[in-house]
Amino acid sequence: MWDQIFSSRMSRMTASEIRELLKLLDQPDIISFAGGIPDPKLFPVTAFQDAFAETLGPDTQSEALQYSASEGYPPLRDWIAEQMAKLGVPCTRDNILITSGSQQALDYLGKLFLSPNDTALVSWPTYLGALGAFNAYEPHYDRLMPHANRTPADYAARAADNGGRVKFAYASVDFANPTGETIDRAGRESLLDLADDLNIAVIEDAAYQSLRYDGDAIPPVLALEIARKGSIEDCRTIYCGSFSKTLSPGLRVGWVCAAKPVISRLVLMKQAADLHSATINQIAITKVAKACFDEHVSKLRSAYKKRRDYMLNALSKHMPDGVTWTQPEGGMFIWLTLPDHMDGATMLAKSLETQRVAFVPGRAFHADGSGGNTIRLNFSLPDEATIEEGIKRLGALLRG
Ligand SMILES: Cc1ncc(COP(=O)(O)O)c(C=O)c1O
Repeated sequence: MWDQIFSSRMSRMTASEIRELLKLLDQPDIISFAGGIPDPKLFPVTAFQDAFAETLGPDTQSEALQYSASEGYPPLRDWIAEQMAKLGVPCTRDNILITSGSQQALDYLGKLFLSPNDTALVSWPTYLGALGAFNAYEPHYDRLMPHANRTPADYAARAADNGGRVKFAYASVDFANPTGETIDRAGRESLLDLADDLNIAVIEDAAYQSLRYDGDAIPPVLALEIARKGSIEDCRTIYCGSFSKTLSPGLRVGWVCAAKPVISRLVLMKQAADLHSATINQIAITKVAKACFDEHVSKLRSAYKKRRDYMLNALSKHMPDGVTWTQPEGGMFIWLTLPDHMDGATMLAKSLETQRVAFVPGRAFHADGSGGNTIRLNFSLPDEATIEEGIKRLGALLRG
């Protein structure tokens, strides 16, 4: 009955088969590198306790529990605009929309740009949640290669063959989920060249931007575009930020920073979808951000850097020949490429049975279904002893 009345977009929204396997993670003897989440032991709990108590105090209690503007809490938008300026993106609160996590921004941007059969350019692999958000708008995907050997005309022709046009390039630019890799400055510049040639938007996903452990920061794509064009109002890059990886994912507070015509369309979507993000959470985040953002992020950086180093070291010790991995300068993930004949999903099933170690098989991150011999490991959650033991077991599994 339902299949005849569900919309066509539902056929593109499928649960991943690995979800079933990952349900087993609750079992206490499993070592999990599968999650992609911050360590809850590092949440700034006291700062949030104080912030929520104050928010519900006499000065802001009515405001905190009331409906509020779709654009977001003005003092939070001002604080974000100041942060963006420090990254080389001069802007005002009118360039900022608060969203319920950056995931909501990805959904809105899919809705804003994609008609069925249009093309979105994404890397192979890319953030699974971006594919999930965009899939609802029934696009085709083509492979984004920042140092491309494919010309703009090739991209345009392939999109036309599929019955639409290229609308945007999506890129998780710093310490990407799932690979941990960063697009260098030249790659960002060539992404802008491509976007100008094709007249498309660039969606810059900066979810992990603050979590750099070494190497020099690279300006956001939006900053590089402003350096070329003079003003954010002339830019095609749409920056999606988030407090999930720095302060708390549970409060669901993210933002979009872009030219005003984009923000005003997204505000219409926000009004239609959920009116606004939770007022009380926005006020509390503002207080915590003002009180301790930089200090807290530097604490996270030193904790996660140690775990990254520990995992890289354990991989060097325990991985057999033929397995290679990325060397991320930040973020939460290391990406392994296994020998061609190995399949990540098959290895996960075997691992849960014999070694009790979990990870995420890489195929689901590939819009074309390739990447069977890849897996994603998370290092932000497990402690050092768990990393050593888990990687040792993973080595035994891959050695067969
Ligand atoms: C690359 C990337 N973008 C966006 C998100 C969404 O995060 P949130 O909606 O919590 O801001 C995630 C979450 O894991 C992510 O890894």
